[in-house]
Amino acid sequence: MVDPRLSGYLTRALNHEMAAVQQYLAQATLLEMWGMADAARQMRHESQEELEHAERIIRVMLLHGMAPRSTQLPAVRVGRSLADMLLIDRELELEAIRLYDEAARYCQRVRHAQAFELFAVLLREEQEHLASVEKWLLEVQRQEGAQHHGG
Ligand SMILES: [Fe+2]
Ligand SMILES: [Fe+2]
Repeated sequence: MVDPRLSGYLTRALNHEMAAVQQYLAQATLLEMWGMADAARQMRHESQEELEHAERIIRVMLLHGMAPRSTQLPAVRVGRSLADMLLIDRELELEAIRLYDEAARYCQRVRHAQAFELFAVLLREEQEHLASVEKWLLEVQRQEGAQHHGG
C-alpha cells in the first residue's frame, strides 16, 4: 500500500505538470499567432520539459502500483503580451518549487529514497525554469522599455 501522503504529493505533482504542459502549449500557440516565432519555439520547449516531468512522475506512480490520474486541470492563463505570460509562468514555477521542496523534505524524513530522488530532481529543474523565466522576463522588459523611449 502506498503511503497516502506520498500518493498525495505524486498526484499534486502530476496535476501541476499537466497544467504546466497545457499552459506553455497554449502560450506557444498564441505567440505563434502573434507572429513571434522565436518566443513560440522557446515556449514549446518549456512545454516539452514539463511533459518529461509528467513522465517521470507517472513512472514512479506505476512503480508504486498507483494508477496515474490527473484531476481537473485549472484553466490556462495566457496573458496579453509576452511579459504578461512570463509573469504568470513565474508564479507557476514558484508554485512547483514550493510543492517539490515540501515533497522532497517529507520523502527524505520518512526515507522514501526513490520518491526523494524524483522530487529532488524536479525541484532542481523547476529552479532552473524559474531562473530562465526571470532572465527572459528581464530581457523582454528591457526591450519594451527601449521601445518606449523611442530606441
Ligand atoms: Fe515541471
Ligand atoms: Fe517548470
